[in-house]
Amino acid sequence: MSDFSVRPLRSDEDRAATDLFRRALHVKEMTDEEWSAAAGSFQPDRGLGAFDPELIGTVRSFDSEVTLPGGGTMPLAAVSLVGVRADRTRRGVLTALMRAQFEDFAARGIPSAMLHASEGAIYGRFGYGIAARGKSIEIDRNRARFRPEVPAGGQISLLGLESTIEQWPSLFDALPRTRPGMIARSPNLWPGYVREVRRATTPTATAVHRGTDGTDGFVTYTVERAHFGAPTVMKVQSFHYANPDAFAGLWRHLLSVDLVDRITAEKRPLDEPVELLFTDPRHATVQKVQDEGWLRLVDVAAMLDARTYRGEPIVIEVIDPLLEHNSGRYRLSEDGAARTTDPADLELHADTLSMVYLGGWRPSDLATAGRVRTTTETALERADLLFGTRVNPWCGTFF
Ligand SMILES: CC(C)(COP(=O)(O)OP(=O)(O)OC[C@H]1O[C@@H](n2cnc3c(N)ncnc32)[C@H](O)[C@@H]1OP(=O)(O)O)[C@@H](O)C(=O)NCCC(=O)NCCS
Repeated sequence: MSDFSVRPLRSDEDRAATDLFRRALHVKEMTDEEWSAAAGSFQPDRGLGAFDPELIGTVRSFDSEVTLPGGGTMPLAAVSLVGVRADRTRRGVLTALMRAQFEDFAARGIPSAMLHASEGAIYGRFGYGIAARGKSIEIDRNRARFRPEVPAGGQISLLGLESTIEQWPSLFDALPRTRPGMIARSPNLWPGYVREVRRATTPTATAVHRGTDGTDGFVTYTVERAHFGAPTVMKVQSFHYANPDAFAGLWRHLLSVDLVDRITAEKRPLDEPVELLFTDPRHATVQKVQDEGWLRLVDVAAMLDARTYRGEPIVIEVIDPLLEHNSGRYRLSEDGAARTTDPADLELHADTLSMVYLGGWRPSDLATAGRVRTTTETALERADLLFGTRVNPWCGTFF
């Protein structure tokens, strides 16, 4: 029996909800000035609150769309601002908020949701799985040299802070979202990014790449000048490109900036070949690999049918105790996906399905970890091929 209730937040409750979330993450509440700069950050009617009768927990989302294997897109809810007041945790508040949010997504016909998790143990129970991972890399700028065959790149123009702020949305929107898992950026996202760069103690610069067909990439970065002999580090904040020329040209620019010892870039796509640009690939080292996007298939039938597959058909049995309508068997083939009563070749829970859906994990690896059950070896081979994608999934947008 719960002693709290969940309902949509009114817009005049957004500030209290934001403060609650920030306190849950040990971040100071917003000043009046920060709050007025945050105007436009919230999509109306997408916040939920738990009340007892005070506000004790919150969750939000904004509308987006996600790129799927095969290049199609589907509507997606990008979930953010998840927090429960520290004196009300571990009594089911988040669980109630998640349930209410899924009901809301289903009612609005949103078949998928994505989030970035503060901790890895929170969201699996709600059917979210690590669909995309990212690697953090560090480049020894003083030693790294480009291999001779690396494209020369096109023309670079440097934008200062104000031009960056002005041009960011159009720069991002103009580039193709080539990887499964990439999402559309809602206008509600940009005020938060602007607040961050205005607040930063080091200047933010954006290098824009122009190739033969016009603007085809950009990278945003800051440089932290070191003191007392420590290395000066350039931090790449966002890096998007449409083709190999822009990829190489932008890296050439980053390495050409003076007074920098190391360049770091976090949560890059796992298969992005940065180290292969250099004569000695060890001058670009992977510091860590972490989850980059957690996906939830809210409508499994619709999502399974929306992506493409290669190879021989299989039947999968999906187990989804939280969203029972998803549970059941689905036949996957090059023609798409459909519910079936045929016997299943393999069985997996909703969170595990999320992990294989964008091609980020092979079903056979998940079987090794006990996450996929099958009685036949060939089912795993077929599943690996069916779910496999040409490039690794990546969200590429922080929210
Ligand atoms: C994470 C958070 C939202 C969870 O809220 P909550 O109301 O305590 O969650 P619930 O009570 O509904 O927990 C449901 C289950 O998840 C488990 N769980 C919740 N948070 C967990 C965590 N951080 N680590 C491990 N397990 C967790 C609970 O133990 C519970 O397990 P049970 O069903 O076996 O009893 C809350 O602890 C919080 O606000 N943390 C700080 C801010 C934060 O990390 N927000 C997430 C941003 S992405």
